[in-house]
Amino acid sequence: MGRLYEATWGRGFAAIYDRLLASTEEAGLRDDRRELLAQASGVTLELGAGTGLNLDLYPEAVTELVLTEPAEHMAKRLRERVAGEGRAAEVVQTPAERLPFPDDRFDTAVATLVLCTVDDPEATLAEVTRVLKPGGRFLFLEHVRAQDPRVARWQDRLERPWKFVGAGCHCNRDTPATLERSPLDVQRLERGELPKSPPITRPLASGVAAAP
Ligand SMILES: C[S@@+](CC[C@H](N)C(=O)[O-])C[C@H]1O[C@@H](n2cnc3c(N)ncnc32)[C@H](O)[C@@H]1O
Repeated sequence: MGRLYEATWGRGFAAIYDRLLASTEEAGLRDDRRELLAQASGVTLELGAGTGLNLDLYPEAVTELVLTEPAEHMAKRLRERVAGEGRAAEVVQTPAERLPFPDDRFDTAVATLVLCTVDDPEATLAEVTRVLKPGGRFLFLEHVRAQDPRVARWQDRLERPWKFVGAGCHCNRDTPATLERSPLDVQRLERGELPKSPPITRPLASGVAAAP
């Protein structure tokens, strides 16, 4: 999205993001996040960390935490949350498609509700593969294209207006298919629903993929 968008709605979206998600978190998303992140260990990277809703859910097995986030106003809130919670984490303002880290740097990479919004999911997964150690794990939890063709048609129809209100979110991405095509080895993929969310963002996929 452009600079004007980021300075206006990007700022507003960051300000209300936690409140927008509050009922969804309470209805189950927070438990899903906790279950996913319990599998994180070692040197861990999070992509598009937003306001930092995952921050207090990382287990002690995570020895170093690097949070990336490209959007200025999200990154500002992320830094504030890191400082407020006193959790040691480095915040790096960067898009997931161009990670400023050397090859094989991380044991774990995490994406929650991010592959819907990155500009280029294929390039993002290539970067994840590059920065993960061989055998390193990618933990994902994403709202995805519906398997029900009627819902998928509505996702296609509403993609553009949704992208505008959702700060760049594409509601119709077939992320499981993109993962299958990527260099990562998908070891577990479960489908579910994002509770208390509109039908076009309700279909959920979460799981684990390993770097070759
Ligand atoms: C729906 S929010 C999810 C935030 C957080 N991951 C969570 O689980 O609450 C999508 C996030 O992706 C970020 N984002 C947008 N474009 C991105 C990109 N190219 N690379 C990484 N993150 C991006 C947005 O700024 C926003 O913080």
